[in-house]
Amino acid sequence: MIIAPSLLAANFGKFAAETVRASKAGAEWLHLDIMDGHFVPNISFGPEVVRSIRPLTKMFFDVHLMCSKPEILLEPFAKAGANQMTIHVELADRVPQLLWKIRSLGLKVGLAVNPPTGVAQAQPYLKQIDLLLVMTVNPGFGGQPFISEMLPKIQQAAAWRREPGLHYRIEVDGGINQQTAIECAKAGADTFVSGTALFGQRQLGTAVRKMRDGVTKAAGKGAKVEAVNC
Ligand code: DX5
Ligand code: ZN
Repeated sequence: MIIAPSLLAANFGKFAAETVRASKAGAEWLHLDIMDGHFVPNISFGPEVVRSIRPLTKMFFDVHLMCSKPEILLEPFAKAGANQMTIHVELADRVPQLLWKIRSLGLKVGLAVNPPTGVAQAQPYLKQIDLLLVMTVNPGFGGQPFISEMLPKIQQAAAWRREPGLHYRIEVDGGINQQTAIECAKAGADTFVSGTALFGQRQLGTAVRKMRDGVTKAAGKGAKVEAVNC
C-alpha cells in the first residue's frame, strides 16, 4: 500500500518546505500534478519546480501529466528527477509511442483513465505499464468530491490483474480521504493519491499513517468481481 500526497494541495509559496514535510511524514511517493491549461482547465508547475525539489527527498516522484502534448515534456521531467510518468489514455493513438518513450527513458510507466472514459480503453496496454491510474474526479483541480461510480473500474482493473503476467499497481486520484481510500482499497486499489485530505492536516505524519493502516486493513475485504462492464 502506497500513500502519495499530491503537491497540488501544498502551499505553492513553500514547495521546498512542503516537500520536506511530506517526506518526514513517511509518505513513500510524492504525486506531482502537471497541468497545461489545455488538456485540463488549469496550470500547475513544470520541470524546473520538480528539479528544484528533487534534492530534498528520496521519495519516489510520481509525475501525472495532464497535458495535451506530453511528447515535449517527457525528457525534461525525466531529467528533472521523475521516477515514473503517467500519461492519459485519452491521447488515443499516441499512447503506444508515449508509453514506449517513458520506458526508454528508464522510468516507470503509468496510464491514466478519466472518469468519462471506459477502463477497457486501457486494456490493450496492461502488459506494458507499471501503474493504472483510475481518476476518481475529473482532473484539473484539487478538492473535488470523490466520484463513487468509479469503484467498478477499480474492481475491473483488479480482476484483469489476476491474469498471469500482469503486475501493474492500481492508483486512485481525486477526492481521496480516509473514508474513500478504504472504499478504493476494498475494490482493489493499492496506491492512493491524496491532496486536500493530507496536506490540509497539521499532523501530516499521523494522517499518512492512518490512511496506510486503514487501506491495509480494508484490502481484500471487498467483494471480488470477475468482470464488469465499465
Ligand atoms: C486532480 C489531480 C489530483 C489532485 C487531487 O486533477 O490529478 O492529483 O491533486 O487532489 P484532491 O485529493 O484534493 O482531490
Ligand atoms: Zn494527479
